[in-house]
Amino acid sequence: MTARRPASSDRVPSDRVPADAAPSGATSATPAPGGRASASAPVVADDLAAVPETALWTLYHRAVEAARPDTVLPDPKAVELVERIDYPFDDRFAGGGGLQAQLQALRVACFDREVADFLTRHPRGTVVCLGEGLETQYWRVDNGRAKWLSVDLPELIALRERLLPTGPRQRLLACSVTDPRWMDEVDPAQGVLITAQGLLMYLRPGEVRELIAGCAERFPGGTLVLDAVPRWFGRLTLSGRMRTRSYQAPPMPWAMDADERSKLRTASAAVVAVRDVWPVGGRGLLGALLPFALRVPPLATRRPSVAALEFAGSPAQS
Ligand SMILES: C[S@@+](CC[C@H](N)C(=O)[O-])C[C@H]1O[C@@H](n2cnc3c(N)ncnc32)[C@H](O)[C@@H]1O
Repeated sequence: MTARRPASSDRVPSDRVPADAAPSGATSATPAPGGRASASAPVVADDLAAVPETALWTLYHRAVEAARPDTVLPDPKAVELVERIDYPFDDRFAGGGGLQAQLQALRVACFDREVADFLTRHPRGTVVCLGEGLETQYWRVDNGRAKWLSVDLPELIALRERLLPTGPRQRLLACSVTDPRWMDEVDPAQGVLITAQGLLMYLRPGEVRELIAGCAERFPGGTLVLDAVPRWFGRLTLSGRMRTRSYQAPPMPWAMDADERSKLRTASAAVVAVRDVWPVGGRGLLGALLPFALRVPPLATRRPSVAALEFAGSPAQS
């Protein structure tokens, strides 16, 4: 996919979002800016720190997949964003080809299904997207009634504000997910579903346990949907060997093999169930092989996985 690359004279320096836009971990609830982002000006995003920059990696692969006529994840908003952001997407991230993009889209579709199912049961519930980056899930699955809270690091929230105008039911919060103050901003009255998509691998194992326990104890009857990279992959990132010619994946200190997911229950007694969320569908050879790969070791156990954790307590009424 070709991202828009304005000539340097085209660039709008005032659109540059500095990596130190706000101190890391600062908490500031941002009410809907209501159309603050302009639809046309390019937004420069070439100075993000390594972990926030991963949001461009996932965005790019969603856009590559969505641009195909036979896409497994329609996502026109992602395509629009990649065209709008002044960043060398192809130079940095191309290389995984269509396979990487499709795998990424199938993982995202697992989250979409969980959110859509939650919204069927809790149409006015709250969807909390931790480490949401430039995800465009709201535009794929919103039901017109739910509340959405996006929590990410300050520099990413600043970028998101510029690019994605929020509606009246959406809020952005600049706060580390390891700072429990984000929980005070969640309205649990009509049910809560929390997503941690492409996030937890960047935290330390103790932080992941604390986050799971905190969510389980604070949101009775709620659900947390998360994904994990397998241990072999985490080790490659820690040794700096997960890189292409132009992109080095940041270290991923937390990893979990798919068959370890029941251990997630040990984070808190309030985690009462853990489900594996399987990718479904898929195109071509990948689509044909996936059902077998998910069942036959070692791929079945040493693969990226998505899990849904259910918390004790009565789900809120909707
Ligand atoms: C790989 S991106 C995933 C973005 C998005 N969820 C997606 O799947 O496209 C990781 C995201 O987690 C965010 N992140 C990493 N550590 C964080 C933290 N401690 N608190 C909040 N957000 C964090 C990054 O800024 C980035 O937006």
